[in-house]
Amino acid sequence: MNRRRFLQAATAAVPAAAGMLSMKEAAAAPAEEMAGGSTLVPRFGDARDWWFQRRFGMFVHWGLYSIAGWHEQMEWREGIPRTEYERYFQQWNPRHYDPDAWLDAAQSAGMQYICFTTKHHEGFCQWDTKLTDFNCTKTPFGKDALRMLAEACHRRNFPLCLYYSVVDWHSPLYPNQGRSHELKPQPGDHPDLTKYIEFVRGQVRELCTNYGKISGFWWDMNVTGVVDPSINAMIRQLQPAAVINNRGFDHGDFGTPERDYNRSWDQPRAFKERVEACQSVGMESWGYRKDEDYYSLRYLTSSIDKYRARDANYLLNVGPTGEGVIPEQAAQTLHRLGPWYKAVREAFEDAVPCSGLTANRNVLLTRKGKSLYVHLYQAPDGGEVLLRPLALKPVKAVLLNDGRPVQWRLDIAPMEWTYHHPYLRLHALPVEEFAGTTMVVRLDFESLEGLHPEAGGSEANGNTLLR
Ligand code: GLC
Repeated sequence: MNRRRFLQAATAAVPAAAGMLSMKEAAAAPAEEMAGGSTLVPRFGDARDWWFQRRFGMFVHWGLYSIAGWHEQMEWREGIPRTEYERYFQQWNPRHYDPDAWLDAAQSAGMQYICFTTKHHEGFCQWDTKLTDFNCTKTPFGKDALRMLAEACHRRNFPLCLYYSVVDWHSPLYPNQGRSHELKPQPGDHPDLTKYIEFVRGQVRELCTNYGKISGFWWDMNVTGVVDPSINAMIRQLQPAAVINNRGFDHGDFGTPERDYNRSWDQPRAFKERVEACQSVGMESWGYRKDEDYYSLRYLTSSIDKYRARDANYLLNVGPTGEGVIPEQAAQTLHRLGPWYKAVREAFEDAVPCSGLTANRNVLLTRKGKSLYVHLYQAPDGGEVLLRPLALKPVKAVLLNDGRPVQWRLDIAPMEWTYHHPYLRLHALPVEEFAGTTMVVRLDFESLEGLHPEAGGSEANGNTLLR
């Protein structure tokens, strides 16, 4: 079963996972109505709202698989017997692990939180858990990797979220049945789902008790389909600021579109539910891969823009080596992303999605105060971008990428002659110069009052009357 079909099956098996907000929650946290009727996804109204202030995070996949440098699921994908795979345990000694270097790299990209794999499917635990010896303190490394990271995060007030896989290829208690993302039964297994869930609960309690403030919990691969809201309830009780994703034992707080596997996430022009998209800088693997190919800056900026312009968070992954170092090309990608993200971030931060203002489906729009931001997340075909039915004259138009002025026109474009009405269009955009990135244009107006947010290209909506 491929990943997509698996997710569909998993969603069917856990009906609660399909919706991200219960009726009760939705009522408690209504979407924020903004001037002009545009909406933001529901805020929490509690300590979890840090997540709406810091919306671009670093994902880190790091485990025994990082030594081999192929893929974080190599044990399953290559069909390696457990005993053979776990020889890496004796080799685990990431001498160059320096969490501050990871956080520096994250901050160079403009990232503001981190999500760390405490236990991936292989079952190796990156903290001093008392519930299994299969943890980093029992390797030649001998130290508690999570403690080191947590201390570095807390020193900088950098929110720390924890990834935890429900599937476990090491625990003899986990029912490995050879389902998707599971090993076949292994010698020495004595599967017991009830005891395994208790083990999970105990580990989650450790994670949420021994490492200071935890800002999020990121479940993965609930192949068992177990529904048990008491586990997230425990996290919420121990760590009230923790945002929880939708891949665990109940629907959690937010949805997790992954890479671009499921294009249906591209369709809505605005999200109604909380979303954190996740993507890796590498094209094939989340864990370190020796001969990885990396996404282009053009692709990543477009992908980030596409989600951030719709009021979603974005988690971008790197896979450090078995030595603990972020690979050079991944670090370069982050360094190159930083100036872009920092230049355009005002178009996302506290900005409200309002893409319904234009019929142009190749752009996304956000608004803040008297400014509209035009997100050219799809590479423009040329220097012109039509914004019909907007017919407002900006007082200023700026390309956020480098601050240069942008030309615009309010006239009847030959292509739009049948409308018999002048509309706003961007003109002479430096498309060749910026072909390798994503342009964002800010249009400042004297006033945006009275704009119909769902104009969507209908001429009857009244936007055309605004000059
Ligand atoms: C995919 C990968 C898994 C990874 C996850 C992160 O599901 O298969 O290994 O941890 O993405 O979202």
